[in-house]
Amino acid sequence: METQNMNAPDSLWRPMTQHKMLLQNHPKHIVKAEGCFMINEDGDRILDGTAGLWCVNVGHGRKELAEVAKAQMEKLAYVIPVMTSDPAVELSAKMLEKLGMEKGHVYFTSSGSEANETAFKMVRQYHLQTGNPRKHKIISRHRAYHGNTLATMSATGQAERKIGYEPLAPGFLHIPPPYPYRRHPKLTEEEHGTECVKFLEDTIIYEGEETVAAFIMEPMISGGGVMVPPDNYLTEIRRVCDKYNVLLILDEVVSGFGRTGKMFGHEHWGAKGDIFTFAKGMASGYMPVAATVVKENIFEAFYGEANELKHFRHVNTYGGHPVAAAVSLKNIEIVERENLVANAAKMERYIKAGLNEFADHPFVGEIRGKGLLLGIELVSDKESKTPLETARSNAIVQNCMKQGVHVMRNGYTVPGLDNVLIMAPPLVLQESEADMIVDAIGNALKQALN
Ligand SMILES: Cc1ncc(COP(=O)(O)O)c(C=O)c1O
Repeated sequence: METQNMNAPDSLWRPMTQHKMLLQNHPKHIVKAEGCFMINEDGDRILDGTAGLWCVNVGHGRKELAEVAKAQMEKLAYVIPVMTSDPAVELSAKMLEKLGMEKGHVYFTSSGSEANETAFKMVRQYHLQTGNPRKHKIISRHRAYHGNTLATMSATGQAERKIGYEPLAPGFLHIPPPYPYRRHPKLTEEEHGTECVKFLEDTIIYEGEETVAAFIMEPMISGGGVMVPPDNYLTEIRRVCDKYNVLLILDEVVSGFGRTGKMFGHEHWGAKGDIFTFAKGMASGYMPVAATVVKENIFEAFYGEANELKHFRHVNTYGGHPVAAAVSLKNIEIVERENLVANAAKMERYIKAGLNEFADHPFVGEIRGKGLLLGIELVSDKESKTPLETARSNAIVQNCMKQGVHVMRNGYTVPGLDNVLIMAPPLVLQESEADMIVDAIGNALKQALN
């Protein structure tokens, strides 16, 4: 196949990219991928240390997923969502089974943003139809990412993502997330967790509990800087939500399907949401598929006569897409069959052991994360925890790339705190591949001192 001259500008508007820079430094197209590696047009093998955008959980190049897609396309490629298909029904049952929910309902969409947007509309309509018509506000946390639509961007707590797009949707409020690394030194982790839960309770009280519909959180903040909460945080959040009839939406878009070394991120902390949202690892990026899962009591609030307009009047052309659902089912089967959740937990220990060798490096503030969602907070001074300057942390990412390892940084999130190096490789990662990540970071850190 003919490839394009990369020095010539093309017509593709890339996301999150300053195109002026592309004129000088055009990245090579990726033409193929297998396992944990991407292969570019020059034939270079690059270790995909971020599993695409932390979604290719089962690794690249899975023929059986392609075969399932082909078979489903030949049988039934598309159906109007209200009529649905066998794979969509089967996938909804599978998701409830994995979540340990005897009852519940699953609404399918095609992206994490849509899954969260769907959840926001559901919680507002739910409260309206259960006698709380004023409950409409949605509380979320600074540093969290929940999507790119106007409402999910409103819930997102990353100021730099919002510049140029405001005013966003009204009715969204933010509280600080737990940040154990930068907590007040007099507080234990647990006390810090309790302090952050109080931010939620105080906000609900100040706003008027009769106006607050839901609280949305990622079990562990991912793109905002890989932030692991104290162990008591989620259960205490659950208690506060119950106390004020505030629905808890757990955004498992990144943490779902094994990424954190448990099937779902919330399993680390033993409390459940009223609503869960999923995407990414649901089909490992082989098909765009996402879901909003609700407890049965929420679903039941939508029962009524047809002309009462109590049903969920929301549709996505590609919701419950038969091919996407079939691929997702096979993807979940692979995660189970190959014990990828256990592998993620095992590789966490292995990579952390490697990275801990650099703990004394002057730029390494904290090494943290769970499963294969790991971060290194980079600082220019360990004592004051001053974040490493953008140019220097960027140089570390670029240096890894030069060594054939793709890692990321939490760029364009919150001002001044874009200093977290992020690793989230496919869950099929083997020790030799983990060594490549650790070695590349070690070399890049060493060279960053020059
Ligand atoms: C936690 C979280 N929620 C939601 C989203 C939005 O998902 P999508 O990009 O599929 O719309 C993302 C995307 O990275 C995410 O990280």
